[in-house]
Amino acid sequence: MKKYNNGEFRLKDIGKSYTVYGWVNKRRDMGGVIFVDLRDRTGFLQVVFNRSFLKNDFAQAESLKNEYCIKVTGELIARTPEMINPKIPTGEVELMVSELEILSECDILPFNVYEDSDVSENITLKYRYLDLRRERLQKIILTRSKITASIREFLNKEGFIDIETPILGKSTPEGARDYIVPSRITHGSFYALPQSPQIYKQLLMVAGFEKYYQIAKCFRDEDLRSDRQPEFTQVDMEMSFVTEEDVMNNTENLLKKVVKDIKGITLDDFPRISYKDAMENYGSDKPDTRFAMKLLDLTDILRGTKMNVFNNVINDGGIVKCLIVKNNGDKYSRSDVEHLTGFVKIYGAKGLAWLKYDNDTFNGVIAKNLEEEKLQAMKDTYGISNNDLILIVADKPKIVYASLGALRLKLGKELNLIPQDQLNFLWVTDFPMYEYSEQEKRYKSCHHPFTMPSDIEKLHDYENCTAKAYDIILNGYEVGGGSIRIHNPKVQQRVFKELGLTDEDVKNKFGFFVDAFKFGAPPHGGLAIGLDRLTMLLTDTDNIKDVIAFPKTQSASDLMMEAPSEVTVEQLKELGIKIDEDEENE
Ligand code: AMO
Repeated sequence: MKKYNNGEFRLKDIGKSYTVYGWVNKRRDMGGVIFVDLRDRTGFLQVVFNRSFLKNDFAQAESLKNEYCIKVTGELIARTPEMINPKIPTGEVELMVSELEILSECDILPFNVYEDSDVSENITLKYRYLDLRRERLQKIILTRSKITASIREFLNKEGFIDIETPILGKSTPEGARDYIVPSRITHGSFYALPQSPQIYKQLLMVAGFEKYYQIAKCFRDEDLRSDRQPEFTQVDMEMSFVTEEDVMNNTENLLKKVVKDIKGITLDDFPRISYKDAMENYGSDKPDTRFAMKLLDLTDILRGTKMNVFNNVINDGGIVKCLIVKNNGDKYSRSDVEHLTGFVKIYGAKGLAWLKYDNDTFNGVIAKNLEEEKLQAMKDTYGISNNDLILIVADKPKIVYASLGALRLKLGKELNLIPQDQLNFLWVTDFPMYEYSEQEKRYKSCHHPFTMPSDIEKLHDYENCTAKAYDIILNGYEVGGGSIRIHNPKVQQRVFKELGLTDEDVKNKFGFFVDAFKFGAPPHGGLAIGLDRLTMLLTDTDNIKDVIAFPKTQSASDLMMEAPSEVTVEQLKELGIKIDEDEENE
């Protein structure tokens, strides 16, 4: 077995013979002497092939190429002062090789492993095992392993029990499309891969385990983004006899420990904000609080203005909000603002009204049409001063929040307002029980249908009913979410009804689940942390693929395995499935 880590040799180790293994990261042939940086997962050791010391035929050393896998034995010596490389931890020593064994040769590489050059993702994902040899990804994957070790250590100590739940199951209600697996035994029946272990973990509470956790694979067939994969991992937890406060404290202590273990940073208690305040101030239920630039309300100030763009919206029950770009107005020309208008339109806004304040006066088309006292009220309320740019959206709250929330983030990035070295954790609490789906023209669960309402009396008040649900946010990313669950079968039945499920639907989809709660179910609650997202943020990348050893592309395919792929006619026949060729060709 390999005994030594190449990256750990130091001056104290010289004068002895060692056998080391690794990959040729780079070689320099100085004619008669060949230097190789021998890489393993811990770093590099310079190994030297010198004709006078090498017992092998020197041609063997000359034949070495990048990424050959080799075994060498030799004496560790101190480098001469002019050869010391202060950039690497092993830079004061080198191994003078006496014996070389080539364990594996390497073909022409599709890209250089030793440099982090820009190679198309199609290539790096196809040869993912080579991409993973690169230092950056090695570090990230090793950190991920440390994060899971830290998590397990915390949860095991706190008395949580690690329990695996099935992958082949029935559809779970997390709101995405399911991945389904056909049954060979019962043609026309399908398993669904779990979108999360939600149902199982609640049943484990009914079973009396009290504290459960699992580092669980979840599957969701949804549109992918830089922080979403079809197959991802949750640190899934559930606890009996707890309040919201208990679940949040437990999660907070867990995250504090992980950050301390990984980054060496001691975090303060996480601030909390209600969903309503998050939306009103940041236009988002996952606010990035590393910078201010909050959404400011203009509804009251502009009520009754003669400018119909604002007044009509207000009279129709809409709102007017603005962002003030402080002291950076000169950075945005008229055409820049037009670009920003195009940007907010993506989020449904009809336009972006703007004002500039300079030389102690308001400028812009709006300034000419808005009453003097309204302008003065804006200035006094929000302390508008020279070189400020005011960007205004008037619409239904949902559109104002979505458009100004996204614009806030865009401006924050453009103006470098976001400090890169901060970890801003934040709890968002008091989520609504329901959200309206424009697409389906009905109210759906905001979290999932097993979430306990804050007030059972309000269950029918779709717009105002809140839930005992909470999300944990880090730097503008939702890294986790959970809730206190319903444990009373009657309340659960009622929630299903409010969500428009018929008795038949409930029986077919969740009959077993509702039944379970008739057998002395304990009150319980939990939360799941998105391990991939957490790892992303702790390893300073904004690409979720970086933290997953074998990720999928934007179109959910694995370029290395070439999955998904066709299966044989025999396999389909066994499953009782026929491919509709017409559909295929459409
Ligand atoms: P939720 O759906 O909020 O809750 O998921 C929990 C966390 O999982 C992460 N996440 C994802 N990460 C990567 N790719 C995805 N496609 C993806 N989808 C979600 C997020 C998210 O906060 N069963 C509940 C938890 C509970 O109530 O206990 C659930 O799954 O970081």
